[in-house]
Amino acid sequence: MQKELTIIQPDDWHLHLRNGHVLEKVLPYTSTHYKRAIVMPNLQPPVITTAQAQQYREEILAATPAEHAFSPLMVLYMTEQTQPEDVKAGYLSGQVAAVKLYPAGATTNSDAGVKDLEKIYPVLEVMQEIGMPFLVHGEVVDQAIDIFDREAVFIETKLIPIRERFPTLKIVFEHITTKDGVDYVQSCDSHTAATVTTHHLVINRNAMLVGGIQPHYYCLPVAKRESHRLALKEAATSGDPRFFLGTDSAPHLAHLKEAACGCAGIFNVANTMAILAQVFEQEGKLENLEKFASVNGPNFYNLPINTGKMTLTRSDEAIPLPKDVQTDDGTIKVFDPQMPIHWQVSAVSQ
Ligand code: NCD
Ligand code: ZN
Repeated sequence: MQKELTIIQPDDWHLHLRNGHVLEKVLPYTSTHYKRAIVMPNLQPPVITTAQAQQYREEILAATPAEHAFSPLMVLYMTEQTQPEDVKAGYLSGQVAAVKLYPAGATTNSDAGVKDLEKIYPVLEVMQEIGMPFLVHGEVVDQAIDIFDREAVFIETKLIPIRERFPTLKIVFEHITTKDGVDYVQSCDSHTAATVTTHHLVINRNAMLVGGIQPHYYCLPVAKRESHRLALKEAATSGDPRFFLGTDSAPHLAHLKEAACGCAGIFNVANTMAILAQVFEQEGKLENLEKFASVNGPNFYNLPINTGKMTLTRSDEAIPLPKDVQTDDGTIKVFDPQMPIHWQVSAVSQ
């Protein structure tokens, strides 16, 4: 059995870092492993303009440990008032890497998101022209649609029409959770890609709902049935350039998740690379981990591939879960994949 694996240093193409004290606490878990991360803009208030993204970037850099060479990639939060000129200037100056669509009401801090997609067509026009990635939270918000069907319905009613209207726009279908998502991306050309999270590769909806309600497995989009997880696992481990890692690590204080109305999000960056090595090993696809975590993302974003390396080592005994994160306001629980993990990151060189 393979005991060691060295890959190009990975990036995280979908990450929530928050701000203030929580940012300071969670950022080192990312910057110790990853060279870059696409930083989600759903703060309160959201990061809407290039100037706000620049300010947030500086806050992130100030919180980065001096010994880590981490580069945050900033994302604008799309609103119906987003200005095409600001988006274009931000992208061309290198200050902004992408724009994110949150359908209003779809998830944490999405109230300022988009209700009427036609209102953002002028922005999408410009993004298509300059090759700037459009990141999509792909769930409809219609109360009449069952939460387990919201991704599939989004594909039919929103994504396909956008794709028809903007045939060469670079679209990242974020954190896909269904076989429908996998099939859709595979049916597209190289202008469409998808991120896959750590947790959706290892849990299905039972983790959240069996044996009592399990708030630490609640995230959005919610995990679906096992057949969907298997489709995600096959796509992620296949090496297909259209699928890459976006952890969607989304820290929340434990008491806010363990509440009558608990919030969505799973904090997984502390053990993602170890879990991925385990998953890829199980699939007999360890040789494709580098494509998923380090190569496919930068190729899609048209960014250089990292020069640093990461080494992962396999032990015969299972490695204990990383410790939970303590903040001044409470604990952030680390994702428990509910399976033995024998891999750990043993070295990262920048
Ligand atoms: C994210 C968060 O907490 O910001 N939560 C989640 O469950 N993934 C928002 C999101 O990405 O949908
Ligand atoms: Zn997210």
